[in-house]
Amino acid sequence: MTQDEMKKAVAEAAVDRIRGQLRADSIVGVGTGSTANCFIDALAGIRQLFDGAVASSEATAERLRGHGIPVYDLNAVPGLDLYVDGADEFDAGLNLVKGGGGALTREKIVAAAAKEFICIVDTSKRVEVLGRFPLPVEVIPMARSLVARQLVKLGGQPELREGFVTDNGNLILDVYNLEIRDPKVLEAELNNIVGVVTNGLFARRGADVVLMGTPDGVETLL
Ligand code: 5RP
Repeated sequence: MTQDEMKKAVAEAAVDRIRGQLRADSIVGVGTGSTANCFIDALAGIRQLFDGAVASSEATAERLRGHGIPVYDLNAVPGLDLYVDGADEFDAGLNLVKGGGGALTREKIVAAAAKEFICIVDTSKRVEVLGRFPLPVEVIPMARSLVARQLVKLGGQPELREGFVTDNGNLILDVYNLEIRDPKVLEAELNNIVGVVTNGLFARRGADVVLMGTPDGVETLL
C-alpha cells in the first residue's frame, strides 16, 4: 500500500467507526490536512446520517461545503460528540504533535469541545519520543522575536514559517531539536510564554483513539 492508500483506508475506517454513533442532529468536528481531507471525502458518503460539521480551518470548511455538508460556527453548537483529525507525530501515550498545516489553534479548540478525539494517521507518524517533527508554535506577530528567544532558552531552534499566515492572522514558529520527554509539562510551559497563542503539542487533551493505516490494514490503538 502507498502512503495515500493508507490515508484513504484509515479515513474509511474512521467513517465506519463513527457511523453507528451518528444521529440526525449530530455535528462532527473535522480536522485539517491530507488525511483529514480523505476523511471528509469518505464522510460525504454518509451525508444523510448527520446534520453537519464544525471545521478546524478555512480549507476544511471549503472542502466540507464542496460536498454539500453544512458547516457550523462552534459557538452555534452546544458541543461535539466527535472530532476526527490527523497528526504529524504520535507516541505510545497517544500524545500528538500537530500543526504541520498551520491549523493547530483551531484544531485544539475543536478537539477541546469534543467528547471523543479520533486521530487518523499512517505508520510514518509513529515515534518513540515526540520532537522529530518540528513543533509548530502559533505566535502573535509583534511577539515573534520575543517568543523565539524564549524558545531558544528552552533548547529549541525556532524557524519562522516563511510566507505563511494562519487563519487567525498570526505567524508560525517551527521549533527544531526538541526532545519532548514530558509533553504535558512542555505544552503548558510553551503556552505560558507571553505572545504564544498555542503550540502543537496535544498532550493535555491527546487523542482518545488512534487509527493507524499500515500496509497490512488499519490498527486501532487505545
Ligand atoms: C494540520 C495538522 C495535520 O493534522 C497534520 O499536519 C497532518 O497532516 P497530514 O494528514 O497531511 O499528514 O495538524 O495543522
